[in-house]
Formats: sequence, structure tokens, C-alpha cells
Amino acid sequence: MNFRMLVLFSILICSSLMMGQNKAKPWPNYEHQIDSVMSLMSLDDKIGQLNQVAHGWGWGPTQPVSIGQDFKKLIKEGKVGSFLNAVGAKLTKELQKIAVTESPVKIPLLFGFDVIHGLQTTFPIPLAESCTWDMDLIEKSASTQAKEAYNCGVHWTFAPMVDIARDPRWGRIAEGSGEDTYLGSQIAAARIKGLQGDNLSGEHIIACPKHFAAYGAAEGGRDYNTVDISERTLREVYLPPFKAAVDAGAQTLMCSFNEISGTPSSVNKHLLTDILRNEWNFSGFIVSDWNSIGETVAHGISADNKEAAKKAINAGLDMDMETRAYINNLKDLVKEGEVSVSTIDESVRRILRVKFRLGLFSDPFRFCDEKKEATEIGNAAERAAALEVTENSLVLLKNKNNILPLAKSLQKIAVIGPLANSKRNLLGCWEQFGDTNKVVTALEGLQKKYPGKEITYAFGCSINNPEERDFSAAIKAANESELVVLAIGEDGHFSGEASARTSIEIPGAQTALFEALRKCGKPIVVVLMNGRPLAIPAIEKNADAILDAWFGGITAGDAIANALSGDFVPCGKLTTTFPLATGQVPIYYNHKNTGRPAQPDNFFSSKYIDLSEKPLFPFGYGLSYSTFEYSDLKIDDKNISSAETNHVTVKVTNTGKYKASEVVQLYINRNPASVTRPVRELKDFQKITLNPGESKTVTLELNPEKLSFYNDKMEFRNEPGKVTVFVGTNSLADLSGQFTITNSK
Ligand code: NOJ
Repeated sequence: MNFRMLVLFSILICSSLMMGQNKAKPWPNYEHQIDSVMSLMSLDDKIGQLNQVAHGWGWGPTQPVSIGQDFKKLIKEGKVGSFLNAVGAKLTKELQKIAVTESPVKIPLLFGFDVIHGLQTTFPIPLAESCTWDMDLIEKSASTQAKEAYNCGVHWTFAPMVDIARDPRWGRIAEGSGEDTYLGSQIAAARIKGLQGDNLSGEHIIACPKHFAAYGAAEGGRDYNTVDISERTLREVYLPPFKAAVDAGAQTLMCSFNEISGTPSSVNKHLLTDILRNEWNFSGFIVSDWNSIGETVAHGISADNKEAAKKAINAGLDMDMETRAYINNLKDLVKEGEVSVSTIDESVRRILRVKFRLGLFSDPFRFCDEKKEATEIGNAAERAAALEVTENSLVLLKNKNNILPLAKSLQKIAVIGPLANSKRNLLGCWEQFGDTNKVVTALEGLQKKYPGKEITYAFGCSINNPEERDFSAAIKAANESELVVLAIGEDGHFSGEASARTSIEIPGAQTALFEALRKCGKPIVVVLMNGRPLAIPAIEKNADAILDAWFGGITAGDAIANALSGDFVPCGKLTTTFPLATGQVPIYYNHKNTGRPAQPDNFFSSKYIDLSEKPLFPFGYGLSYSTFEYSDLKIDDKNISSAETNHVTVKVTNTGKYKASEVVQLYINRNPASVTRPVRELKDFQKITLNPGESKTVTLELNPEKLSFYNDKMEFRNEPGKVTVFVGTNSLADLSGQFTITNSK
């Protein structure tokens, strides 16, 4: 055994011993082992660790794959530290074997993949999941998705997306948790816990909150577009979910494509080093987005990939996804004195640290068990977990005369619309290995639910092409029925990356179809399927009921049928504001007041001359088949110091006929303050379930951190002053009270 083998052998032994203790927090200290590995590495080997390459698309867990010669060569030469899009136990095992037996230092590879809402068992899109407001469920969803990925060779998912999105034209709103920073931060932490489990033990994988930072603030909602926001908005609105993810133990972060105020994130030292590492003590590593280092050339800030590489590594960006700017240029940049070896060393250490924490040095093949891959993916347990999330994500937007749940006496139901029986669309964006054959559509769900009823189906029209329509069959089906279920909305690929829309109305001839069906005089229950909030004033006015089902994944149809029949009582709450028209965008509940808040009788106030400034449905909104009454709002202390926590209690009574869940929401307003504050800010919530007639006193908490904000000197403080509290069923809650913060000690 030569010296190199000896060192590696002792590292493997040590790290296997550490693995047993991996459950403990904080992380075991691997710095000595990292030193040992580093001592074996040439500068080339180090630069290789910073290089991530894409294996290409289309490799499913069950499909045979062959490894291209180019990839083999790269691994053997130690020129790659990580792959993306290489998935499957067999493929990853083969690639890993080359790395740990034939590469110069035999360092295991890290395999990353976008598991955004499931690998094979497709869960609802993340925006839908956020409407559950249920952190336990979200954590369970993430851990179920992690388990499938783990058993399919995936070490690392590029998720969760924690970008706050206030502009529904931006297609990637579908991938996040909506417009609110507090809720978004809670969800970010829940998803990290679910994906990474207890310090990556068991069947868990590394998370990668993205896109750092403010990617959702793209001008005009156009993907990849310029972002120009103040440091205050950055810190108060866009950064907190990233901080929450880091605090929850996220091991990696992905930087965003956009610039902020003149500096693209990939070369933004303020973001990557000052904030992330120096302020937040992040100990993991940062990966670029796809070619985002190279794209700084198009941004006009780097002359070529070489300059881009220099700026990115010096800013603190550790791993280069697919630009190959590091592998091709860093050595020369070191020789030229533009990049120091210690900068490279630091990035390498961060990557090795994560590889140690994942246990790859003790068992590089722990994710590549082909037998488990054959048995542990796409099972009933995963499907049941998905169904629970899908049901809880449904948002009931309208229910005139309690038309829902459907009367048991109904015998003839017409199920109409381009989305009523479309499987692919229900997978939404990032369907990955989601199996369309396993998707249950709304039509199929209702047919299963009601075997004894007459259910007719008509397509009606295409989603997007106004010419492609067959209204006559749809009208016939409606005329022959007692009630119409109309499934309309967007194509599953109208949201997600690069899928911005200038109009967020329902596309094609679908609204015309709705109007044509109305003339049949039958009640119409609209089931919306969408990846973003939609502007649907005509539907809101004239439909009898509206259930927003988003893109619900493979169990969508079962969840819809359960909700329409009343076997499941809808309880989802919107996490994005629904506007009346695209022209109101951006529209979000936690806006500022302005010096001239909208007043109906004052022309010179902040309004539109052609439409109300109010939304169609506010943030936090969602109905139930039951009703809830809020009463007895009490605030523990009328005066507290800035270091104290206050509690707010409220009695919630289920005044309806169904056992049902409700999300009790608490908002605050700080006024006056040293800087202008939002009209309302969500600061706590609790999801409760009550039987008919049952009451519960819910206690909500306001601690100093929740009450603090960046003051006029940009210090994060809980300044003295009046706090108004609103509690209720959505962001328009009118039950309110006040207390005062008496000092700023
Ligand atoms: C680009 C996307 O912006 C990012 O979200 C994704 O993780 C990477 N591509 C890798 O697929």
C-alpha cells in the first residue's frame, strides 16, 4: 500500500466511525480528514472538484444507459467533482466506481438532480403545496421525495426554490411558496428538514435552496430579467427564506441568474461572501446556476469566461455548473496571480465537507442499490403521501348556495374541458420521471368516486388554441346533465422556467366555452388547473363554485373527486394574491400605504381610472364547506419592552356542519415607525381542525424578532411604538387589537 492509499484508507475508516454519530447536531468535525485529502491533491485535482457537468437529459431510473467516453475521461482525469442529471442506481454506480478507483485522488462524485415536486411520484407543484400552510405535511412531502431520489442514485436536489414572487407573470412562481416572506421562511425550513432529515442520516439527500437572490423580482415578470431593488427590500422580503433555510441546516445554495442593482449574483461578493458566509456563517458550498458564470459575459460585466471565472471564484462561488469556466481557466488565473490558491482551497474544502457530511467517503455507493431502486420507488406509501398533500392544497374560491359538496341525489354529471382528462398537464413543470400512466385525471377520479352515476365527458376546446374547439358536444353534454364540472386553466408547461406570460387570464377559447355552457342553465363547478394566480373576474362572477386544484400531480383526480364529493373538506389558503386583471400586477397584500391610499371619493388617490385597485381574491383566502367564527381576541400585555414576547389569543368556533380545518392567521401593522411599513404583515398562523360546534382558543406568538425590522439607519431593531394586530381567516381579517412597545433596550 503506497502513502496515498494509506491516507485514503485511514480517512475511510475514520469517516465510517463518524457516520455512526452523524445523527448528532452540530455536524461532526471533518477538518482533519479534509486536510488529509487536500494533502493528496494537486492544483488540477482541486479545480476538478469545483467543476459540475451535466450528463444530459432523459435518463430514467429504469432505462438502460451508457456512459459516454468523454465523461469517463473527465472522471479518470479528476476533472469533475459533481454531475447533474445523471440519475439511476446503475448509472451513478458506474460513474462513481470510476471516480473512486481510477481518478487521481479517488474522491467520490456528488450527483445532483432537480427533484422539485417528486422524482417519480409527482406531488403537487410547490406553489400548490404552500397553500396547505401545513409544515408537518410539507416536511413529510419533502422527505418522501428525498427517499425516492435517494434510492435512485440522487445525492442532492436543486430544491427548494425559496424565491418570493410578487409577480404572477413570472412562470417560476409555480416552483415557490408564493408572495409572503414569513410563510415562505417557515416552508423553506420545513422543506430543508424533510429533504435532509437528521443530519443527512437514512434516506435523505442534500438540499439546495435557490436562487440566491431576488430572482423572483425580475422586471416585468420576464424570466432571467434584471432586478433592481433596495437593500431594504432585499433584506426584508427576499433574503429571509434563504436565512431560514441556512439556519435549518441547508448544505448548499444555488445562486441566481439575475443581477441585483448592477451585479449578477454569480459574481456578487456582497451576497455570496459578506451576507451568506460572514453574516450567516454558512458552512456549505454554493453552486452556480446553469452557465450563470459564463452569462456574466452577456450581462456585460466579464470580457470572457476567463474573467467571469476570476470574478466568480473571488466573489465566493464554489462550484461551476456547466460553464466549464473554472476547469478551463483557474489554473492560468492562479499562475497570473489573479486568483489565490487559498481561495481555491477554501472552495474545495467546502465541497469536500459536504461530501464528508453526506457519508460519501465512508460509502460512496450508499445511494446506488439497484434492488432498492426497483422496490422503493413509486409505491402506495408515496402515492398516499402525495394524495394527502394534494387534498390539502385545494383552495375553494367560491361556493354559491353551498352547491359543493355535490348533492348525493345528482345522477347525471357532465365533466367538460381541456383539462378534465389530460394526464400530462397535471404533472405541471418539472415532471421529471413522473409517470403519466399513473396520473388520475378529474374525469377518472369522478368516475371512480361515482360508479353508479352517469358521467359524460366532452373536451370543449384546446387550452391555448382558440380555433381548436368543439363547443357543440360540450353543450350537448351539459344539456343532458344536471350539473357541469368544468376543468379549465393553463397548460402544465405555461409555468416554470422561461414560461413568463404577459397575460394571466385563462388562455384560448376556455372563457368562451364557460360562457357558452352558462347558457345551458346548469350549475357550473369550475375546477381550475394553473401554475400561477389567474385573473378570472368573469368566472368568479358567474360560476357556481370554483375549486383551485393547481397542478396536483399523479393523485390530482382522486383529490378533486374527494373534495367535490365532500369526502375531503377543502382547507387550502392562497399564498398569492389573485388580481382582477394582469394590469394590476405586481399586487400583493403586504404593500405600503402610500401618502395617498386609495379612497373611492378622492380622484387624487392611489387608484386606477379603469379598474379597482383591489384584488379578486386576497392572500390567505380560501373557503371551507364549514364556517368559522372568530371571537374574544385578547392580547396578553398592552405594554411590553422590545425584548419581550407577546401572545395573542382568539377563540375559533366551527359554526358549520362539517369537521373541517382552518388556518388561523395573525397580521400586524407598525405605525408610526421610523420607516414606512407594510399595511399588514403575516407574523404567525396555526392550522387547526374542529368538529361541528367545537371551539378552540388559539394562542399566537409575537416575539422580538417577528416585531423587528430595519429601521431608518438600516439596523434590525424592535423599535418602540404602536403595534396593531389583526386575526382572522385571511389577510383582510378585521378582528383587531393593539399594544405598545415601550422601549428599545
Ligand atoms: C436552471 C434552473 O434555473 C435551476 O433552477 C435548475 O436547478 C438548474 N437549471 C439545473 O437544472
